[in-house]
Amino acid sequence: MGDRLKDKVAIVTGAGASGPGWGNGKATAVLFAREGAKVFGIDRNEAAVDETAEIAKAEKIDFTPHIADITDPDQIEALIARCLERYGRIDILHNNVGIFELGSIEKDRDYFEHVQLVNVTSMFLMTKAVVPRMIEQGDGGAIVNLASVAATHYVGAPYSIYAATKSAVIGFTRAIALEHAAHRIRCNAIMPGVVNTPLALEPIRKKVGDDEFQKILGQRDALVPIGRAATGWDVAKAALFLASDEASYVTATEIVVDGGLSAQFG
Ligand SMILES: NC(=O)c1ccc[n+]([C@@H]2O[C@H](COP(=O)([O-])OP(=O)(O)OC[C@H]3O[C@@H](n4cnc5c(N)ncnc54)[C@H](O)[C@@H]3O)[C@@H](O)[C@H]2O)c1
Repeated sequence: MGDRLKDKVAIVTGAGASGPGWGNGKATAVLFAREGAKVFGIDRNEAAVDETAEIAKAEKIDFTPHIADITDPDQIEALIARCLERYGRIDILHNNVGIFELGSIEKDRDYFEHVQLVNVTSMFLMTKAVVPRMIEQGDGGAIVNLASVAATHYVGAPYSIYAATKSAVIGFTRAIALEHAAHRIRCNAIMPGVVNTPLALEPIRKKVGDDEFQKILGQRDALVPIGRAATGWDVAKAALFLASDEASYVTATEIVVDGGLSAQFG
């Protein structure tokens, strides 16, 4: 147990993982709680967020699970009320929810709008709900948004729709930071590269056999100059820094967590 987030109340969206193992949000929720935060963890998948709650219970760290779909403003209103009832304030908003979908112009408009809804609109709705509360509290706050290196670099798969949503996250992050800097509300983004989370790996695992899966894991590692794909913990550690007071002079920017992947492409 550390104290880098001692007494802070943190909302983490997507605090479960979409399959076995550690996703970015699940690792971040647990790391925040290990560092002394009171974590209000949201997920639309009850089993997933309950699994995170079980881990927290075993470690005797403070985590409250809440089931909600954050594309729905009514469910957001209810979750903010529940968090305030439980913890009385909100210091940190970690906007982790996002879906990674391959696809480009062969897809239809509904598909584009679905990815936009989950990756960007939900972030807008959560931020819109939390910032007035932070302003009212009067002592600042920290918002961390999950973008991706796909926002700025093409790494060889057709994902223009995903890239568009993650570019939007970066623009949104910088603008929110500047609009609320006077209230000492910081807002930053994380740009992960290749991360071995259930979101990225489960669709592959379901499609191929064991041998082929191991081969693909090796190919993912080989893409990265540092020699390995990231884990959710690599992303969580960057989130911890940005959410903590150690980053009190860091706002309107991005941390690239990609083992050197994107720098290869200029
Ligand atoms: N995995 C990667 O390689 C990678 C790379 C770059 C960026 N990212 C970003 O990291 C973030 C998290 O990814 P992950 O791989 O940890 O995902 P994950 O699937 O492991 O976890 C995300 C969780 O979000 C939940 N969720 C999805 N939609 C929701 C909604 N509408 N309301 C509430 N909960 C919802 C899911 O149920 C899941 O438990 C995403 O924004 C993703 O784009 C991931």
